[in-house]
Amino acid sequence: MYENEIKEIIEKLTLEEKVRMIHGDGFFKSGDVKRLSIPPIYSSDGPCGVRCEFNNADWFPIGTDDDFVSYLPSNSAIATTWNKELAYKAGKTLGEEARGRSKDMILAPGINIKRDPLCGRNFEYMSEDPVAIEELAVPLVKGIQENDVSACVKHFAVNNRENERTSIDTLVDERTLREIYLKGFEAVVKDGGCLSVMAGYNKFRGVHCCENKNLLNQILRDEWGFDGIIISDWGGVHSTVGTAESELDLEMSVTPDFDNYYFANPLIEAVRNGEVTEELIDKKVANILRVMFKTKMIGDKRDERKAGTFNSPEHRAAALSVAEESIVLLKNEKNILPLNKKEVKSIAVIGANADMRHSFGGGSAEIKALYEIAPLIGLKMYLGGNTKVTYNKGYYVATKALNATENWQATSLETGSDEMSEYPYLKLQKPGQYAKENETLFKEALEAAKDADKVIFFGGLDHNYDIEGADRPDMKLPYDQDIIIEKLLDVRPDTIIVLNGGSPVEMPWLDKADTLIYNYYAGMENGTALAKVIFGDVNPSGKLSESFPYKYSDTVTYKNGEFSKDDCIEYKEGVFYGYRYYEKEGIDVAFPFGYGKSYTTFEYSDLTIKEVCTNACEKEGCDSALSVSLNVKNTGEIDGKEVVEIYVGENNPTVLRPVKELKGFEKVELKAGESKTVTVTIPKSRLGYYDDNIGAFVTNNGEYTVYACASSKDIRLKALVTL
Ligand code: BGC
Repeated sequence: MYENEIKEIIEKLTLEEKVRMIHGDGFFKSGDVKRLSIPPIYSSDGPCGVRCEFNNADWFPIGTDDDFVSYLPSNSAIATTWNKELAYKAGKTLGEEARGRSKDMILAPGINIKRDPLCGRNFEYMSEDPVAIEELAVPLVKGIQENDVSACVKHFAVNNRENERTSIDTLVDERTLREIYLKGFEAVVKDGGCLSVMAGYNKFRGVHCCENKNLLNQILRDEWGFDGIIISDWGGVHSTVGTAESELDLEMSVTPDFDNYYFANPLIEAVRNGEVTEELIDKKVANILRVMFKTKMIGDKRDERKAGTFNSPEHRAAALSVAEESIVLLKNEKNILPLNKKEVKSIAVIGANADMRHSFGGGSAEIKALYEIAPLIGLKMYLGGNTKVTYNKGYYVATKALNATENWQATSLETGSDEMSEYPYLKLQKPGQYAKENETLFKEALEAAKDADKVIFFGGLDHNYDIEGADRPDMKLPYDQDIIIEKLLDVRPDTIIVLNGGSPVEMPWLDKADTLIYNYYAGMENGTALAKVIFGDVNPSGKLSESFPYKYSDTVTYKNGEFSKDDCIEYKEGVFYGYRYYEKEGIDVAFPFGYGKSYTTFEYSDLTIKEVCTNACEKEGCDSALSVSLNVKNTGEIDGKEVVEIYVGENNPTVLRPVKELKGFEKVELKAGESKTVTVTIPKSRLGYYDDNIGAFVTNNGEYTVYACASSKDIRLKALVTL
């Protein structure tokens, strides 16, 4: 497709024009060729919505008011819905907003594995599990790209931490790489048709990702057949010749000296003196032109290009649906939830997160939101005037004004350090740092809590901690929140605790708390969604897409010391991290992967497994997949949605394998008392492991156990199958 047209254009281009097309000519704009009507590619972050407009050559927002947008739920929140249709809807919304803001490429989604709870960008990522990522990222990307805009999946690859992000080297054995870290990328490229991939800042096996021939040339292009644009992370290129020889197509950066980029004048020079062949440049230009044709930026379909829109009522509705289904009910031991709107006359709302907006933080995922309904206003809007809602901050969060001459992104590459306090824009607090202020705040909060009908605490993390460019210093709740939570639970054991964050936190008071909700930066309608869940208009159906260990020291990365080293981290744990590790070692966790409660109950029965052909080839014996069916019944009094998780374990593997791994899932909606058959189709290729000796995935014949689960620890049914 388009290859003849592409060839014709390339023949007409001069070397200078070609080179113009393959590097930034603005912070979010590639070079154009007006003579041949080749436009620039306008890109923008990011995963939670389209970022504000910046000046072309400095990092200051233009400052007009026409770039407010929908603030969409984070990728973490999309993942906790476990709802593929919603993932598609979220993508469609994001793509439509991107086109509505005249963008050609949206720098999303982020699909790196959540390997360690402390990674600063975990909130931008989906899950610890590659199948959870595959199943949700593919519809998300398809939704985005339906709008004639390219998705740019990031950060390829093995980019799982933020400290020293531009220099850290990552060593991963081939099996782990293939089984875990590349899976999501492979799926969005092959099944999602993703048109662009962003190469990460980090090094992989000693070579920066942006010029890593193993990753870009061998795997992405040769093995997966990717023919879209490989773009650098901003400032991720470190050489001219080496990078030109890799399959990277487009260099973007954070400094305004566009002509001096590695892929600018230095590249022209390298071609002239014979160090780089012009054919290499042609190939990069061809990849760019191909995406331009496919997104109707050029060619005879240009007039049909979708215009998109932003801030539409449909977009707000989509943000609300995702938010509602993303909320995870972790504890409801005394059935305190849902609250009854008519009965509750007064509520003491406590905690800074109740009244905090998160949209404008986090790094490149920041958004200039048209609005953001925080939990406190969400509750008030929901309840109206007949319920008394008091508010106390409960704990002290210092504010630190940004120096007007500083911009986070401009300095983001220099400040990569594990000393978070070096970041001028962060407001990290040490335990006890504001003990005096807290003494007063605690007292006021406890006073308010004593007399209210109900007490709701909104705490957790914010974008001082869930942030690009820096990892969290520990897994603890910041701002001395543990102290106030303990005190509150002493006074009011029925306190409803709602935590927000992008990854797990330690909860030393967990045994004392009966009611706990976890909430993952769920966008502009988060407060509305929370109110609806708390008062039972929405029955919670979110499930964790990562494990919650009790403490950071339980994680394998803490134990093997391979997360926080400065120069090189080795993924010594192999495939045994997250639930694969806890299960192997029999380590108890606070909440397992895939866990989340509902206000109703579900019963699973009648598990059957059939081998089926999904290739439509109708060849005898071509049973390429397992079709796993079971009956799910809503045995409670109210309607609800259940995520059925199918895990598979090989019973006599030839290499050490996890006890079981997620292989597929479906979310099903059931009225009170209703039963439905749920079918999950699992390609047999997904059951295999990567065999280092032959360099390919192998699915052994033999016996496997198929588990139908409500979480990775809650096995409801199991059956054997022999392949
Ligand atoms: C981030 C990318 C982002 C880019 C452009 C980089 O700092 O790592 O995810 O898309 O900036 O803002």
